[in-house]
Amino acid sequence: MKTVVVLTGAGISSESGCNTFRDNNGLWRKYRVEEVASPVAWQRDPALVLDFYNERRKKLFEVEPNAGHLALVELEKKFNVQIITQNVDDLHERAGSSNVLHLHGELKKARSTVDPDLIYELDQWELKLGDKCEKGSQLRPHIVWFGEPVPMIEEAVKVAAKADLFVVVGTSMAVYPAAGLIGYVNDDVPKYYIDPNAFALSGITNLNIIKEKAGTGVPRLVKDLMKA
Ligand code: APR
Repeated sequence: MKTVVVLTGAGISSESGCNTFRDNNGLWRKYRVEEVASPVAWQRDPALVLDFYNERRKKLFEVEPNAGHLALVELEKKFNVQIITQNVDDLHERAGSSNVLHLHGELKKARSTVDPDLIYELDQWELKLGDKCEKGSQLRPHIVWFGEPVPMIEEAVKVAAKADLFVVVGTSMAVYPAAGLIGYVNDDVPKYYIDPNAFALSGITNLNIIKEKAGTGVPRLVKDLMKA
């Protein structure tokens, strides 16, 4: 079975009602990264950081996967599909995808501030000051903040290097190391970039640009790949 590696970003969840970060109504237009998504922000005002992620988590309990997520599940009928996502939502898993690697953490999980291996599932949207890990430390969102290492990147590089087909969906390719993963894919491997604002990626060969929304562009590509 051929391996299709799919790198997704906030754009694939946009039609489900989740905000992206850098579009006109993006989160970073309303919030300052330094105030809500960095270790310094956590030290300075943990309540503000918790509120930011609580609001996003509350929204996540209200939304559903869309046609873009569902089409990637359909693709598993004929391909070994490996999803590497920058998204912290669980919409790929809720759609039914089997292999999802989260590079930037998961919104429905919290972790200890003294032991990063202590990670807890959250079955409700609110994480509060005073919520503690079993070692008595304040719980924080299980999210990779700006300036923090990306623990899953080595695993993601290995996955990308095994691709027979590589598909990028709904990301501005602005954030590294995620945006650099396509550089580990062999030159002769067909690559697709599905995003209304997709652009040519310097030094990347065999790249097919599909300037479409994920909800239409992904199902169309999947249909073609399933036929081929
Ligand atoms: N379908 C496909 N793509 C879309 C859609 C849609 N319906 N709507 C918007 N997009 C595209 C935009 O054109 C843009 O290229 O999604 C992309 C969103 O880009 P960003 O907001 O920069 O989000 P992303 O690339 O996922 O950000 C990367 O940055 O803020 C950090 O950790 C955060 O994981 C995030 C990382």
